[in-house]
Amino acid sequence: MGIRACLSRLLPEEPEDVRGFFASLPPLETERLLLRPVRRGDAADFYAYASDPEVARHVLWRAHRSLSETRAVIRMIRRQYWNAEPSLYAIVLRSSGRMIGTIGFNAWDEEHLSAEVGYSLAREFWHQGLATEALRALLGLCFDRMGLHRVEGMHELDNPASGRVMEHCGMRREGVLRGRIRNKGAWKDVCLYAILAEEWVSASPAG
Ligand SMILES: CC(C)(COP(=O)(O)OP(=O)(O)OC[C@H]1O[C@@H](n2cnc3c(N)ncnc32)[C@H](O)[C@@H]1OP(=O)(O)O)[C@@H](O)C(=O)NCCC(=O)NCCS
Repeated sequence: MGIRACLSRLLPEEPEDVRGFFASLPPLETERLLLRPVRRGDAADFYAYASDPEVARHVLWRAHRSLSETRAVIRMIRRQYWNAEPSLYAIVLRSSGRMIGTIGFNAWDEEHLSAEVGYSLAREFWHQGLATEALRALLGLCFDRMGLHRVEGMHELDNPASGRVMEHCGMRREGVLRGRIRNKGAWKDVCLYAILAEEWVSASPAG
């Protein structure tokens, strides 16, 4: 490994590099998962879970109705990489190489160095701690390398599992935002969670 690669593992990158991260999401490895940019070749795996209405119930996208719809979503995600816009990682099981979900950035506030994150996972992989594992890795990127100050996440009140994932990662419940989103035609209250950079230091295992 070169000196530059060694140093980049030890030192946080400059905050002004944030757009560079969106343009080229660095791969993140956890015990069971690899987070990496979404590829064209993920279409079949992506469609297999994104076509499940249960997976789409509490997210703002609707269940995919065809493989060509999934391919269009992948093109959109890759355009976001190209434009250095906030976007998604593919969540890949290291044991099989299968893409089983996405996690990433729904929004980003350059002036205040904050981002909103979101995630979804194939139903057969729920309740195994995988979303928690993926979110911890993403928060590590946000705070240790991108230099963000605040990371937020929101979940619909009737989707408490997502709140548990954020709590497990050290995020705090800040309150309920009434009628904050319209999901598939229905106004929904959401619960806002967030974590600040200084709290991440104390929440992370090495902190
Ligand atoms: C929400 C989601 C990402 C959770 O993924 P996961 O890998 O199952 O999450 P984890 O296993 O890391 O943790 C789930 C936690 O929620 C809890 N949980 C699961 N279902 C629950 C429910 N109906 N009510 C309360 N808690 C619940 C689990 O017990 C676990 O908490 P615990 O470890 O304290 O027991 C997954 O269900 C999913 O992809 N849902 C569809 C997409 C979605 O809703 N995304 C979030 C949008 S805000």
